[in-house]
Amino acid sequence: MATQALMNTYGTRSLTIARGKGAVVWDLDGKSYLDALAGIAVCGLGHAHPAVTAAVTRQAETLVHCSNLYNIPVQQQLAAKLCQLSGMTNVFFGNSGAEANEAAIKLARLYGHSRKIKVPTIIVMEQAFHGRTMATLTATGNRKVQAGFEPLVSGFVRAPYNDIDALKTIALNNSDVVAILVEPIQGEGGVAIPDADYLRNLRVLCDQHQWLLMLDEVQTGNGRTGTFFNYQHSDILPDVVTTAKGLANGFPLGACLASGIAATLMKPGNHGSTFGGNPVACAAALATVDTIVAENLMARAASLGETLKSAFAAAFADYPQVKEIRGQGLMIGIELDRPAADLVQLAADAGLLINVTAERVVRLLPPLTLSDAEAQQLVDTLTALITTFVSNS
Ligand SMILES: Cc1ncc(COP(=O)(O)O)c(C=O)c1O
Repeated sequence: MATQALMNTYGTRSLTIARGKGAVVWDLDGKSYLDALAGIAVCGLGHAHPAVTAAVTRQAETLVHCSNLYNIPVQQQLAAKLCQLSGMTNVFFGNSGAEANEAAIKLARLYGHSRKIKVPTIIVMEQAFHGRTMATLTATGNRKVQAGFEPLVSGFVRAPYNDIDALKTIALNNSDVVAILVEPIQGEGGVAIPDADYLRNLRVLCDQHQWLLMLDEVQTGNGRTGTFFNYQHSDILPDVVTTAKGLANGFPLGACLASGIAATLMKPGNHGSTFGGNPVACAAALATVDTIVAENLMARAASLGETLKSAFAAAFADYPQVKEIRGQGLMIGIELDRPAADLVQLAADAGLLINVTAERVVRLLPPLTLSDAEAQQLVDTLTALITTFVSNS
């Protein structure tokens, strides 16, 4: 399909997806694919979910847009629901994960200035991914994302992921630090799972130094890892949590949630967005969140994730080329001992949509509504593909 009129940010794309239903999508020729990627963790309820379709249709027939100059009841309802689910007290809505993180970064700076810190500095992690705007690509720990866009934004220091001692060293040497921005699981970084007590230790450290703990749950949020937000596995509360992706099942919506002092920092005129918290996106999100909670899809993600990991562990037991199978809920990485990008096309040829990240990690982010039969199909198809791939390449 001709792409001459598009900027070439995504390279050549061989597949055109024409429609979807649940965990299945079809291309222009009518070939079906099991979607184990869900638009990169976006369509948690699968494609064309009736509750979302109905909510969006109803809202589109009523009011598509009015701007944030006016009350938007569905936005306020969504904010209240997200606060109830997260333990936070206030929400700012943008349109994407990057914008949610921009809001968090701005909060950290307001917080720093409120404490008379002249160069408020945020600790960010190696291999992190926080988005493609100038501040969020600076926060991202991947040179490929930054290269060509210098000068980068100041006010960030980098630490290794899952390394509390490194953060303690920064604390000793840098009195400008005001916050930590971190993913509870690094998605783009290769489905990197930190130690079980990592978030709890981060909370303690942040309390000791009066730093804001800001969690990027753009990918891990909205039920994907077995709780609504990933930090709920650790029984802590962050000061700020950002989310997007699965929040509105495909409609553009990002949210920056805050509690405590972080929730009080934004004042009229500090921040805004024309489209952020748009009525249609919020209606989609309310239907999405209500469905995730009503059908307890968090629990489904947790149990199906364990089933999938065990099935892959058994299937690859005799394949040392498969280095590790890891994940939480329906965020699963299968790390190979070699570059794995070619598997994406091989999988598509076999009727399966997957993704490869961090060069060697096959990443699975299927809808939380995946059926048992679809899960079995995913295991069978991917096992055959990977065992052939590592035996022949
Ligand atoms: C953890 C994390 N943060 C932020 C982003 C950026 O989100 P968006 O592409 O919606 O700006 C992503 C996207 O992959 C992400 O995985």
